[in-house]
Amino acid sequence: MTHSDPTTPEFLMLGTCDYPEHVPSDRWAPYARMQAELGLRFVRVAEFAWSRLEPRPGEFDWAWLDDAIAAYAAEGLRVVMCTPTPTPPAWLIRAHPEILAFDEGGRVREFGSRRHYDFASPVFREHSRRISRAVAERYGQHPAVVGWQTDNEFGCHGTSRSYGGASEAAFPAWLQARHGTLDALNEAWGNVFWSMEYTDWAQVKAPVLTVTEPNPSHVLDYHRFASDLIASFQAEQVELLRELAPGRFVTHNFMIFESGFDHYDVARGLDFATWDNYPTGMLEFFAPPGVGEDLKTHYARTGHPDLVAFNHDVYRSLMLGKDGLGRAGAGTPNGFWVMEQQCGQVNWAPYNPLPADGAVALWTAQAWAHGADVVSYFRWRAATMAQEVMHSGLLRHDETPDRGFAEVAGLDLTQFPVGPVPARVALLHDYESLWIFDQQRHAAGLSYWAQTVTYYMALRSLGVDVQITHPDADLSGFAAVVAPAITLVPAERAARWEAAAQGGVPFVFGPRTAFRTPGGATWPGGQFGPLSEMTGARLLQYDSLRPGVMQGVTGAFGSVDASLWAESYRLTGAQTLATYAGGPLDGQSAVIRHGNATVIGAHSLDLIRAVLSEVLGGAGVPLLDLPEGVRVSRRADRTLVQNWHPHAVTWGGLELGPVSSVVLGGDWSPTEGKGEQGE
Ligand code: GAL
Repeated sequence: MTHSDPTTPEFLMLGTCDYPEHVPSDRWAPYARMQAELGLRFVRVAEFAWSRLEPRPGEFDWAWLDDAIAAYAAEGLRVVMCTPTPTPPAWLIRAHPEILAFDEGGRVREFGSRRHYDFASPVFREHSRRISRAVAERYGQHPAVVGWQTDNEFGCHGTSRSYGGASEAAFPAWLQARHGTLDALNEAWGNVFWSMEYTDWAQVKAPVLTVTEPNPSHVLDYHRFASDLIASFQAEQVELLRELAPGRFVTHNFMIFESGFDHYDVARGLDFATWDNYPTGMLEFFAPPGVGEDLKTHYARTGHPDLVAFNHDVYRSLMLGKDGLGRAGAGTPNGFWVMEQQCGQVNWAPYNPLPADGAVALWTAQAWAHGADVVSYFRWRAATMAQEVMHSGLLRHDETPDRGFAEVAGLDLTQFPVGPVPARVALLHDYESLWIFDQQRHAAGLSYWAQTVTYYMALRSLGVDVQITHPDADLSGFAAVVAPAITLVPAERAARWEAAAQGGVPFVFGPRTAFRTPGGATWPGGQFGPLSEMTGARLLQYDSLRPGVMQGVTGAFGSVDASLWAESYRLTGAQTLATYAGGPLDGQSAVIRHGNATVIGAHSLDLIRAVLSEVLGGAGVPLLDLPEGVRVSRRADRTLVQNWHPHAVTWGGLELGPVSSVVLGGDWSPTEGKGEQGE
């Protein structure tokens, strides 16, 4: 097989995550040879190797890593080096137990796995700078080391926040910097409610172990505080790498549906974002509530196409930043990689099925179509020790090629030219809205992610390529803007949206839009707060529906059933497009429109799809009518059509085998009649 030269990234490139410290040194050269022969171009190493790089305080051992890098370099492989900060060694932790973090139950999170540190710990920060500097001094200008990954998966295992120790101690100063005075803090949090007013900064603790739920505004600020800590930790590493590794890229591998920090802030300063894609584990373990058991069983061996695609789009878009103007990566068209791509079974979900035949090729093609320039498989050889022995790699424990290996070997990368993803529809996403939304879901089954992903699924079922966008970005160039769950809408944000709508951009809002102030309270005038002019309406009622209870909605989009959430509106200028039928909201407005703003108050995939279809169609966005499990994505001058079902499908004039992809020209469109779903 021939692959392009990595210095001229014309086509998708591949890599793997390797752990030379896990195997005898006589395996390094043969592994590197096999990796190169498989067509891999990048190898990521050393993110958990602190105890081997610095076995005792101040005593460094570089020889093994020097040799391992030399083995990769001898085969022309490019190395992505890491700062090994996710795993501070035992000698450091026992000397400075104050590095450890606390869980929500106030217990210490002990040494013995990974990510056992508090971002606020000054002593950890000092040692993190020390080890990162040492590694970067050693390898920053090594010719085979082309880039750097900071740490590993911030937030993994619920490690974004520590609820005691160093974090708790640092919180009051952060609050003081944000609020200025205690009066302002008490006012912002509404502390008069239940006599929660503070008279001294030192009285404020982490929002845990309270008798009943803590004040959501307190929790919201704790999330902001913890997020700022991670952003400053990241910035420290990036600065150091810029100094010591000139000309090398710096990235971080973000996680599936990670909510613990504001990714826009934490990504600032990177060259591009990467994320770790485990489709089957994602469906089992991270699927938002609302993804039912039937769907989980049906897609158990591939994962769900839209959940995976959503994460791709989140991370592809991340570097555009909060203003939407950020640069899209250094030297790469979209500047986005999959740093860890599942290539066999995972080990961490309740059930860990073998991927279907074709799944590794399916995932790789999808990653490319959603903008990835490199897909790097986790991991080279299955671990023979410790926590992840049940996890697959490209090689089995016994070093023979596993199923994923054959699929990687069979890829024709010339099918996957790099180039832009032509996404003209923005889907707004914001971590502060997520934090406050999820504290008071009011309907357990409808989280921020669940609501957001439902709109995303509707868009994808219409064949729309989506640009995930921060709500404060310049939205004027989009064909349409969809804001499924932006519940926190300050006045400036509302003003920008209104200007874009007046400029001709249609907006579609989901329930609970603009319900909250930046402090986490409701607006004194109620929802839609500063967005009331734009929507021409006020919130009337909201209803939380038990699982299985349906609320009828009828009107311009036919008659559909909503579940989980239904809110109605009092009109102050808007018109009603659909009303509730039956139940306590009978006859009240369910879908409203005012100029370019449409609001959908009821949670229903069918309704959302129908409204989006009408609005996007009117905006000139080309639409398809895709069956569940069949997805179309566009990149560069190609169209990718995929079937994620375990059975064959006939659609759009195409015969799609089970778990399969076909790459077509950019101007391809389905033939009339659109075919039928098989079996
Ligand atoms: C990732 C992590 C890897 C490995 C992998 C297993 O979250 O970054 O180190 O644990 O999961 O699937």
